[in-house]
Amino acid sequence: MATAVGLPIDQIDLGDMSLWVNGPPHELFDRMRVEAPVHWSPMAEWEGESGFWSITRAEDVHTVSRDWEAFSSEQGGILITNLATPVEVQNAMFIGMDPPRHDRIKALFQRGFTPKRIAEHEATIREITIQALDRLEGRDELDLAAELAQPVVGRVIGSFLGTPEEDDVVWADLAKRGLAIGDDELQPDGNESTHEIIAEVFSRASAVAADRRANPTDDLTSLLVHAEVDGERLTDDEIVFGFALLVAAGNDSTKATFTNGMLGLLNAPEQRQKLLDDPPLIPVAVEEFLRMYPAFAHFRRTATRDYELNGQLIRKGDKVIMWYPASNRDPEAFECPHMLDVERNAEHQAFGAGGRHFCLGTALARLELKVLFEETLARYPQMELTAQPEAVQSLFLNQPRTVPVKLGAAAG
Ligand code: HEM
Repeated sequence: MATAVGLPIDQIDLGDMSLWVNGPPHELFDRMRVEAPVHWSPMAEWEGESGFWSITRAEDVHTVSRDWEAFSSEQGGILITNLATPVEVQNAMFIGMDPPRHDRIKALFQRGFTPKRIAEHEATIREITIQALDRLEGRDELDLAAELAQPVVGRVIGSFLGTPEEDDVVWADLAKRGLAIGDDELQPDGNESTHEIIAEVFSRASAVAADRRANPTDDLTSLLVHAEVDGERLTDDEIVFGFALLVAAGNDSTKATFTNGMLGLLNAPEQRQKLLDDPPLIPVAVEEFLRMYPAFAHFRRTATRDYELNGQLIRKGDKVIMWYPASNRDPEAFECPHMLDVERNAEHQAFGAGGRHFCLGTALARLELKVLFEETLARYPQMELTAQPEAVQSLFLNQPRTVPVKLGAAAG
């Protein structure tokens, strides 16, 4: 990393995984925003993959994100490499479609994410979190990621979709292995395992959808199989692929933000103290965790025509990557951008930078994170970090592998 930081900017290839061993390469992003805000990486180490443009300034990410006609989610997919999830699979999920297909399906899914439905889920989310904390009682040292965050986020999305608790671990494992682009430990067999993962996700999702068609309940899957907007209904494929998208989006996203946020607080005791003294500040702090540690490092677009951005010509067909860890720390948009400030309350791009694909799960994610931080901080106010963890080595997932802590005395 130290060597790459010293290289001329046009010799830096962000596809080089050694730059990502400690998570997003913030020092390089700082340079790129100034020296080459639209920067080319050849992705030389990735066989068969074309290079990409990196977008690092907040304003430019906003421009790309909102202009779906010039920057497509459908032509080429939404990830930096299609090795983990083939583009046909991405295109079958509405995150990988352009309007008008995208808008029709998203409108139907939005029926399941109304503020009322999300708010009604708060009691369940709190109960899930309290039960997970209860299970830690009597323990001393443990990994907050595996033993608190994972069971909570898995059960929350499971309870929302209507899948049984015993399947939470299976879904979480499938989601993570499917998304951990670049991490040899999580995707040891690369392509080989990818096909198996995808086949399993879809056969499981089909089974749940078929069951709810026959036996409707009040869960999200039941709502989706029966949803209707302007006489339009979802097809079986749209439901199954949408279901898979929600499992993928719902697991590692909130887990990443919670674990990185806790890590941030444990490394900055005066910031944690502010939240202990004033718990109503927690929703504001959640926005700061999302800004500092966006769960997904990027989404991709493909240029549909030649386009000049910030003086740089992007050619039709080129890959364009929006790096949220960079745009969320743009000094033009945020004062002292690398500093965690739980009172900052700034608008960020962790959920995307506006436009058609803005995250569908924002209200659910915000509520889940609020409850997780409230209950965890209240129960274990003296928690300490026992080691500085490693980051998942990925161009997409931005999260620590573990958060090793000593719980300290439980309050109340
Ligand atoms: C901290 C939590 C989360 C973060 C940081 C996050 C981030 C994002 C981002 C950046 C996008 C934009 C993709 C693009 O522009 O191509 C997105 C889209 C999406 N997210 Fe989230 N997400 C989170 C939680 C969730 C949850 C809990 C769900 C659902 C249960 C969810 C469902 C979706 C869906 C369905 C889309 C696609 C929307 C579309 O294409 O119109 N997300 N998310």
